[in-house]
Amino acid sequence: MATQTNARRPLIVGNWKMNGLRADARALALDLATRLRWHLTPAFDMMLCPPFPLLADVADAIRGSDLGLGAQDCHAKPSGAFTGDVAAPLLKDIGCSAVIVGHSERRTLHGETDAVVKTKAEAALAAGLCAIVCIGETESERDSKRTLEVVSRQVDGSLPQGATATSVVVAYEPVWAIGTGRTPTPADVEEVHAAVRARLGTRLAGGATDAGAMRILYGGSVNAANAGQLLNLDNVDGGLVGGASLKAQDFWTIAQSCH
Ligand code: 13P
Repeated sequence: MATQTNARRPLIVGNWKMNGLRADARALALDLATRLRWHLTPAFDMMLCPPFPLLADVADAIRGSDLGLGAQDCHAKPSGAFTGDVAAPLLKDIGCSAVIVGHSERRTLHGETDAVVKTKAEAALAAGLCAIVCIGETESERDSKRTLEVVSRQVDGSLPQGATATSVVVAYEPVWAIGTGRTPTPADVEEVHAAVRARLGTRLAGGATDAGAMRILYGGSVNAANAGQLLNLDNVDGGLVGGASLKAQDFWTIAQSCH
């Protein structure tokens, strides 16, 4: 799937968050898988990240298509007495090729630090999953002009040991843009993505070459109307989409606006 192909080919990831029941999930996944199957030359890779209990249903619905499957979180350990948590090897076993780690909702609501995110990302890589590592500043950090400092610190602290352009995707999601209908300007998005890529060049074992090949997604109030402007910037390699990924037509339009 997606993460095995050309490293900078646009990747559109639908983060369903805590939404959906089995029937809706199957219908949405099947709709997108069918569109992808009939599209002769998609210029993008597409992935769905449903809630844990829906992974098996979605895996079944997308079987035989190029649609990728990812989870929204994983535990840092491969197994053990961790009630309610889900291990990366199980995600791999159930058909996932990726897992989101360090989403701001996990950082804020579950107290996940950069160090925790890093261990989760390392667990993902150890299980053979691609880690989609989320970073992004809060509104007060942006207002105090600390955005680049914050995302640089998050890159330094959250990036797993051994990260490569194919094993890790970075997702820049300004916290204040998530679910609010507000977005940075395209120039602001490009500035942050360029800075993140430069920082990656100093952190990856593969240096600037790997940083130049790593996908950096933008997320935060991406919709069918603004995707063309936000997702086609030089250093933007696709999107991590929340609300608009729950509607097949909107999500498809977003994907198609990437080139
Ligand atoms: P929205 O697209 O709903 O703003 O959510 C973005 C997000 O958090 C994706 O991970």
